[in-house]
Amino acid sequence: MKKPNITLFVFFIICSFTANAQSNKMNDFISNLMKKMTLEEKIGQLNLVTPGGAVTGSVVSKDVDDKIRKGQVGGLFGITGPDKIRKAQEIAVKNTRLHIPLLFGLDVIHGHRTIFPIPLGLSASWDTAMIRHSARIAANEATADALNWVYSPMVDIARDPRWGRIAEGSGEDPFLGSQIAKVMVEGYQGNDLSKDTTVMACVKHFALYGAAEAGRDYNTVDMSKVRMYNEYLPPYKAAVDAGAGSIMTSFNTIDGIPATANKWLLTDLLRKQWGFKGFVVTDYTALSEMINHGMGDDKKVAELALNAGVDMDMVSEEILKYASQLVKEGKVSVKTIDDACRRVLEAKYKLGLFDDPYRYCNDEKAKTELMSDANLQAAREIAARSFVLLKNDHNVLPLKKSGTIALIGPLADSKRNMLGTWSVSGDPEKSVTIMQGIKNVAGNDVNILYAKGANISDDTEFIKRVNVFGEEITVDKRSPQEMISEAVETANKADVVIAVLGEAADMTGESSSMTHIGLQQSQEDLLKALVKTGKRIVVVLMNGRPMTLTWEDEHVPAILDTWFGGTEAGNAVADVLFGSYNPSGKLTVSFPRNVGQIPIYYNHFNTGRPFHPGDSPKFKSDYLDAENTPLYPFGYGLSYTTFSYSDISLNTKILKPTGKITATVTVTNTGSVAGKETVQLYIRDMVGSIVRPVKELKGFQQIALAPGESKKVSFTISVDDLKFFNNDLKYVYEPGNFKVFIGTNSRDVKEADFKLE
Ligand code: NOJ
Repeated sequence: MKKPNITLFVFFIICSFTANAQSNKMNDFISNLMKKMTLEEKIGQLNLVTPGGAVTGSVVSKDVDDKIRKGQVGGLFGITGPDKIRKAQEIAVKNTRLHIPLLFGLDVIHGHRTIFPIPLGLSASWDTAMIRHSARIAANEATADALNWVYSPMVDIARDPRWGRIAEGSGEDPFLGSQIAKVMVEGYQGNDLSKDTTVMACVKHFALYGAAEAGRDYNTVDMSKVRMYNEYLPPYKAAVDAGAGSIMTSFNTIDGIPATANKWLLTDLLRKQWGFKGFVVTDYTALSEMINHGMGDDKKVAELALNAGVDMDMVSEEILKYASQLVKEGKVSVKTIDDACRRVLEAKYKLGLFDDPYRYCNDEKAKTELMSDANLQAAREIAARSFVLLKNDHNVLPLKKSGTIALIGPLADSKRNMLGTWSVSGDPEKSVTIMQGIKNVAGNDVNILYAKGANISDDTEFIKRVNVFGEEITVDKRSPQEMISEAVETANKADVVIAVLGEAADMTGESSSMTHIGLQQSQEDLLKALVKTGKRIVVVLMNGRPMTLTWEDEHVPAILDTWFGGTEAGNAVADVLFGSYNPSGKLTVSFPRNVGQIPIYYNHFNTGRPFHPGDSPKFKSDYLDAENTPLYPFGYGLSYTTFSYSDISLNTKILKPTGKITATVTVTNTGSVAGKETVQLYIRDMVGSIVRPVKELKGFQQIALAPGESKKVSFTISVDDLKFFNNDLKYVYEPGNFKVFIGTNSRDVKEADFKLE
């Protein structure tokens, strides 16, 4: 028998003793404080306001300073910078009876001042250490701007690219989504929230927001519990397990009850089953929106939210208005208010705000940390790693640093669109456009010609909707035909054409759902004209969602998906185009061939009548007019080199419940340049008490290979990887046959079989 490790045991005892002592100290402090608080003061802590700025609803809080003074505010969001935040904090600390400091939150989503790729792009790196690092930098910058609370990560699984907010999450897969949720929380919160460089994370949107029907934002969600537990809830749970300090309710209904009034969700599942210890904040006016949902009047919805487990009300102010009355009428207990208030105060305590309410207000730090050279360099590297090479026939890419390049397209030189949605503190003026990046990287031997070629869209009503935050779609004075003619002339003078096409930044994000997810007509016309020139064409795509690119895929030799790459995107795009970074990103969401295939995702069920290519299609689960498969599958992405995979070798074909199986492949770089590959492991449970997906991602590893080099990559599989929630919502494994797949994406895999005894 192994000897017990005494040192480890003693260390563990000391750690738990210290943690208990700290938590007792916090509890005593808060209990003492709460003894002094009136009911109204406690209710004040449950109120979150915004004086304006980047708001996401029609209601904006009024008389904010006055409310702070009256002890009616627990937190404030939408302002940044030591100056403004110090002023607001001073009102709370100096002018209220109990001097309780405020929380200061903001939507720091993919970076703060230095903007990283949109989250969907970040996830395409599959590089969790790097994603953690991006959150760390964001936290560092946010704290330098005096913030202590960020509304991120968004961990909503999304399988519908019509939904604009697909840009803000990590795609369609619960396994990868969970890994990313965890590292984002770790990156923001570090291991000590009271440090001056850490912020409290707010996981959102709890829950299932990404499953809005028809991809229309804020729309109804309705799904089985089995699907919820197996496919949609894991990333929230991973974020909670990683210690996220707060969680935000979603706008949608769950089982017919809005999340914000859903006691099963916020109390039974979140607190009782998952043991969540932080506080729950509503989304923007989600509480008062329950009137529209048909849950009752403003007083009733406040009652429902409080009794469901909401601790803080973002902007609605219904709790502020009605909680005291509801307590007097016995509809909400004093304990409910006390619990909510305690949770909010605990967050402030953990952030160290009672020790020093101004701990984040440091003018010097703001000067050195924001957009530092190191942060910008990191942004450039991170952006390059997020790009996905969708197509590269005849090795059109990388480009030589010589000859003439025609740079064409409405996004080729558009500072305004580089940062993407939800980059409220980013300065578009400081972003590097693709034109600038190419000039920076290409050197003097490249002659660059430019033509805009088209507007992002010519649809005036659509342009108005997209341009609400500023002129993202600029409309040229020239006619579409004039612009196209100029572009064709320019293309004809060049050796290669780089067409920078796609979406304006706010064609994705909140309230940006679309039924057409291909290129806008204006750009399609341009691309068709460019293709007719017969020149080699590289499409550089900027996009916040999977787009339908069937025509483009058929007619253009090279397509590089660059999402919205952030402040340094232009440099990063150039690094990839000229080969100083060999693209390694892989899609985290399937790209449909057309809108009619939506929802389309790799981890679907088999159906009773699966269609296999070559089968007679009648009475099979397929379409008369399209294929079942996506254009580009989950996990897909090319490199400037090629990789070959050996067959899978298993160390045993029988897995015992207490044992492990090792699955190994040898991956070889068969091309002529060094490259990075993300080796993916999928599993299929062949027979189950409930229907199981045809494939589920269960692991991935990133390896770097020199030309000709081979590496063995092994995955260890245990019953933990085979568990799922059964019909009784028990997390179980079931003996039987399994398939294991290893490959370069979810479609192109090697397979082997094993049996779980
Ligand atoms: C609404 C959005 O749904 C949420 O993601 C965001 O954090 C809040 N508004 C605050 O801006």
